[in-house]
Amino acid sequence: MEYLTVALPKGKLFKPSAELLEKIGYTADGLSDKSRKLIITNEEKKVRFIITKTADVPTYVEYGAADIGVIGKDVLTESGKDVYELLDLGFGKCHLMMAVPKEQKRAKLTDYAYTRVATKFPHIAEEFFTRQGMQMEYINLGGSIELGPVVGLSESIVDIVETGTTLKENGLEEIAYIMDATARLIANRVSFKLKFARIGNMVTALSKLVGKEGQP
Ligand code: PRP
Repeated sequence: MEYLTVALPKGKLFKPSAELLEKIGYTADGLSDKSRKLIITNEEKKVRFIITKTADVPTYVEYGAADIGVIGKDVLTESGKDVYELLDLGFGKCHLMMAVPKEQKRAKLTDYAYTRVATKFPHIAEEFFTRQGMQMEYINLGGSIELGPVVGLSESIVDIVETGTTLKENGLEEIAYIMDATARLIANRVSFKLKFARIGNMVTALSKLVGKEGQP
């Protein structure tokens, strides 16, 4: 049997992803996001895990370097990668929104037109603002987006909110909702056909666990 390569993201989604896959028998000795070993193999099950930076998971899957992967819908949408989205895994629930400093809140959304917005989701942000008829200046950051308006780098941010703690602690307020996101199981288009039996069985087993039988 050929190996099945699974891409898992470092960070918040790693633990729930690894735990969920373990429940359907997909695991390997030493599988941990703390591991310095970036590829971990289970010879008996013929499964190989690669642990990548979160934003890179769709790239590995699109090129077939990984057959399947777990990634947030936010990062997947932003990446624009051509992969199959097989299943909503339900965990990692958050939403994308626009926030501004509470103290400098303007009367309406369009009052922010032509201002600077800090984000690591420039494509999603641009699509959102274009729909509002707003042209913006995008400042791409790699993380700690909330810092942008606090130090005057930008007037607003587009970022994910999970508990709302980061916004609150930095004096920011959500002023526009953009989209919901949860973790998704994705597959390379060719792998999905060539390894259909294994991937199909995984989707069936996972669907039962996440209570979403009958999903595409
Ligand atoms: C994410 C996001 C927010 C925070 C939201 O950051 O960018 O900063 O989590 O969570 P909360 O609403 O529960 O406070 P992450 O921890 O992934 O780090 P990063 O900003 O450095 O990417």
